[in-house]
Amino acid sequence: MRMSTLSIGLLASVSLLSTQTQASSPHPGKVLHDDANCMKCHADMGYAKPSLKKMGVDSWPALKKAVSYCESNLNVGWFPEEQEQVADYLNQEYYHFDK
Ligand code: HEC
Repeated sequence: MRMSTLSIGLLASVSLLSTQTQASSPHPGKVLHDDANCMKCHADMGYAKPSLKKMGVDSWPALKKAVSYCESNLNVGWFPEEQEQVADYLNQEYYHFDK
């Protein structure tokens, strides 16, 4: 009995953490990103590669701008908060800028 109470407690804290560390459920920005088919181009082109220079993405604000640029070019129709979530996902996954 003691053990199972402990495991439930642990599980609860792990799932609380996962909203920040995306340990179990996918980042909401990843879901948006994958739905919008960004990988149609970026699968080959990648993100945060030295070969990508046109947008000069060297900071968190610049990353948000680049997301917004591609998003509006493609008419995806994300709200600003959704763009921010996608930028946050790309930042966690590829860019690692300080905010
Ligand atoms: C039609 C092709 C295409 C699609 C689809 C596309 N992009 Fe892009 N994206 C580009 C091009 C071209 C660049 C500029 C690459 C360079 O710097 O050479 C770019 C650059 C970027 C960059 C900056 C890359 C860097 O590190 O400098 C980000 C971030 C980005 N796109 C996000 C997105 C997101 C989010 C989506 C989905 C909504 C998306 N892109 C869909 C073509 C595309």
